[in-house]
Amino acid sequence: MMLEQSNVMIDVHLNTQDPAAIKEEIRAGLFSTPRTLPTKYLYDDQGSALFERICESPEYYQTRTEHALLKTVADEVIARTGTETLVELGSGAAIKTRVLLDAMARANHLRFYVPFDFSEGIVRRVARELVEEYDGLQVHGVVGDFLAHLEHLPDGGPRLVIFLGGTIGNMGPEDALAFLSSIHHEMDSGDCMLLGAQLITDVARMEAAYNDAAGLTAAFNKNMLAVVNSVIGAEFDPDAFAHVARFNHDERWIEISLRSIRAQVIPIPELELALHLQEGEDLLTEISCKYTRGQVERLLTEAGFSPVAWYSDPHQLHGLALAHKP
Ligand code: SAH
Ligand code: AVI
Repeated sequence: MMLEQSNVMIDVHLNTQDPAAIKEEIRAGLFSTPRTLPTKYLYDDQGSALFERICESPEYYQTRTEHALLKTVADEVIARTGTETLVELGSGAAIKTRVLLDAMARANHLRFYVPFDFSEGIVRRVARELVEEYDGLQVHGVVGDFLAHLEHLPDGGPRLVIFLGGTIGNMGPEDALAFLSSIHHEMDSGDCMLLGAQLITDVARMEAAYNDAAGLTAAFNKNMLAVVNSVIGAEFDPDAFAHVARFNHDERWIEISLRSIRAQVIPIPELELALHLQEGEDLLTEISCKYTRGQVERLLTEAGFSPVAWYSDPHQLHGLALAHKP
């Protein structure tokens, strides 16, 4: 734990990862069907910066839709929950978060903000920015993996845990339920949860959001290879892969892959192997599940929450589910 200045504290939990477990996770993914790479490696500092640019791209409708929706519901959410501590999982650049912090300030309820993210650079930046922007705000950042380090969430209530952007969709349905259940387990009775979910809509719109003309999503996807190279000393060449993103109708998710543009052999000395890929073979790097209201509310209920309210934009592109832990 490190005290940065009187109103900022940052805990870092990532250096506790076991190198053998990291190698095993990557090895297991590469030899599964389909071959996969862990989605979390999309978000080093470079990946986080690219994601911020994706959010501003014309094709990526999700961020601006959720931002606008939050503006219409923030005062009501803060009034209904009495929130004094805002905890944000996968907080990223916390742009939309400001809408909720503003509502907390208007209600004279603004005390603590807890950004929790894998990316240390972005947690530190957001903490610095927000204490400048909001008088009297205390920021307690947590740099960690929300799939492994949730027990390190600071106490202090009444808490509203937010998980925005549709990041829940980057887990498969079973993992999403396990994750929401573990959040529920860490919350106190009376705490609330605001969950953002991308809704299923027309395929062309969804596919365009992951195939932007400026190539930002392609760069974000390929950046993962540089991260994997640095994590396990592999020799992936990003130029030997093409970005592919398409809707899987059966699973109702967007699949984002890196397609080998030729037959190639990738040395991975730390795993003591060389990976043989055929031309056209895919490495799945991310899924992005699209939900219906019913599915989101079922997930929350199965995880132990009581749904309180459902908010959505006029075009039904994005949903925000407010729930509480009884
Ligand atoms: N909430 C923001 C950012 C979404 S991008 C928004 O709505 O725009 C997803 C964020 O989750 C990234 O900042 C990424 O670093 C973080 N993230 C992804 N997997 C994570 C994990 N396992 N643990 C912690 N943070 C994670
Ligand atoms: C963070 N998450 C909700 C984004 C999504 O839409 O699934 C990640 C992303 N990947 C490519 N573009 C955006």
